[in-house]
Amino acid sequence: MSANFTLVLFGANSDLAARKLFPSMFQLSRWGQMPAKYRIIGLGRPMKSHDEFRREVRQKIVAHAPDTVRDEAELEVFSNNLFYVRHDLAAGEGLEDLRREVMRGEGQEETCQNILFYLSTPPSLAPRIVRSVEAAGLGGRGASTCGGWRKIILEKPFGHDLQSARELNRAVRKVFHEEQMYRIDHYLGKEPVQNIIVFRFSNGMFEPIWNRHYIDNVRITIAEDFGIRDRGAYYEESGLLRDIIQNHGLQLLASVAMEPPVDLSPDAVRDEKGKVFRSVRLFTPESAARDVVLGQYEGYRQEAHVAPDSRVETFASVKFFVDNWRWMGVPFHIKAGKNLAETVTEIVITFKCPPQNFFGPPGSCSYTANQIVIRIQPEETIAIRFGTKRPGESMVTDPVYMKFDYKASFSKVGLTPYHRLLIDAMSGDQMHFIRDDAVESSWTVIDSIKSSLPDIEPYPYAVHSWGPESVLQAQS
Ligand SMILES: NC(=O)c1ccc[n+]([C@@H]2O[C@H](COP(=O)([O-])OP(=O)(O)OC[C@H]3O[C@@H](n4cnc5c(N)ncnc54)[C@H](OP(=O)(O)O)[C@@H]3O)[C@@H](O)[C@H]2O)c1
Repeated sequence: MSANFTLVLFGANSDLAARKLFPSMFQLSRWGQMPAKYRIIGLGRPMKSHDEFRREVRQKIVAHAPDTVRDEAELEVFSNNLFYVRHDLAAGEGLEDLRREVMRGEGQEETCQNILFYLSTPPSLAPRIVRSVEAAGLGGRGASTCGGWRKIILEKPFGHDLQSARELNRAVRKVFHEEQMYRIDHYLGKEPVQNIIVFRFSNGMFEPIWNRHYIDNVRITIAEDFGIRDRGAYYEESGLLRDIIQNHGLQLLASVAMEPPVDLSPDAVRDEKGKVFRSVRLFTPESAARDVVLGQYEGYRQEAHVAPDSRVETFASVKFFVDNWRWMGVPFHIKAGKNLAETVTEIVITFKCPPQNFFGPPGSCSYTANQIVIRIQPEETIAIRFGTKRPGESMVTDPVYMKFDYKASFSKVGLTPYHRLLIDAMSGDQMHFIRDDAVESSWTVIDSIKSSLPDIEPYPYAVHSWGPESVLQAQS
């Protein structure tokens, strides 16, 4: 990796920077995984000196990732690489101060430097930021005379519907090529999510049965046992379909449903995921009424910055179909919600019953049907369920599980998603970042639900339940 590396962080005072980005960068520097010489230039609105900024960042790392701080001196060494530039985008200010700060690094021409822009700011600011970057001569599309690269990391959400996503893509593309864009969905940095492809394509035994002939249904659950916290204003604009299903939910679906890539290059993998998104059946008013349940937890309307008559959903259960040769007719249920009974993300792949069931009522094996259960959080496990004879005289079956647990099998300390994704972005590996076509086709699917269910009143559900259960039962 080149020595003259600068990370320019818009939103240096943001919650994301405090909780995830600075602790991850600090750990990468401790592990020797940052470039030998690097500078991190943070931008924010309040006036502060480099030293004040460094002190604040040290405090944030201690507060949010105390386990990572073994030695104050290491923290000091890391923070000496931090610099601060005051900047208010809304006030129409240019980025001359940033340019000066970038040029101070190594005393090099800014075009020679490798610069990674990180936007930890409200998504609506992205077009303005890239325009300012270009106006300041720091943009990415122009050829560099001395080999410096430019990349940009964008945080989700990437728009709030197809049209806004296209506009955002168009705006960023004026300054950066797609090959320079790293759209983060941090789920794609999680070990068990990255492992789905490895599990499927490094084991010969699963792929022959990974299709509509053997799989009955796929259930993806993304549940959180907490509410919207202080994000009322954001949630009122977003809702759960946009916040969780459009990105995490459909990305997990694509990892399960994709065809084997031609090789492991980032675009080969993203090509296959793109085909899945394009194959997801779009909703009509009839299918949405049948296959989509939206809920809202009791008390949501009393949360701060939430309208007293809000119809925004905090829960969704959606039955998707992937219309291709492998999956035609197999339902992919995605259930996600806030304030549910527990925090868990898992994928359950349920296989069809054997043709003859000797051990239960005819045509039924739901109790012992073979399943592959991929737990993404809180545990990181893969379990295979199968029926076995209950000890004793009668021929009765019970379901049992064979389980692989990451923690029990690997002693190596795992990287967090932000560690992994920062390393990938610095080294130029886009496999686990979302490409423009995936953004647009996943919005096409969500838009088809939204337009099919205009102004629908979500079903209320009790806090710490599993959603509007009576409605779900009636529909299943
Ligand atoms: N927080 C998370 O856990 C999380 C998780 C996943 C994705 N994300 C995404 O990460 C991004 C940041 O989220 P966040 O929760 O960290 O937001 P946040 O705490 O509200 O921070 C947003 C930052 O944007 C800066 N900003 C706002 N208006 C500005 C302007 N006119 N000029 C310059 N800076 C401006 C603010 O700077 P000042 O403070 O300096 O005023 C603030 O630090 C969003 O895209 C979000 O969707 C966040």
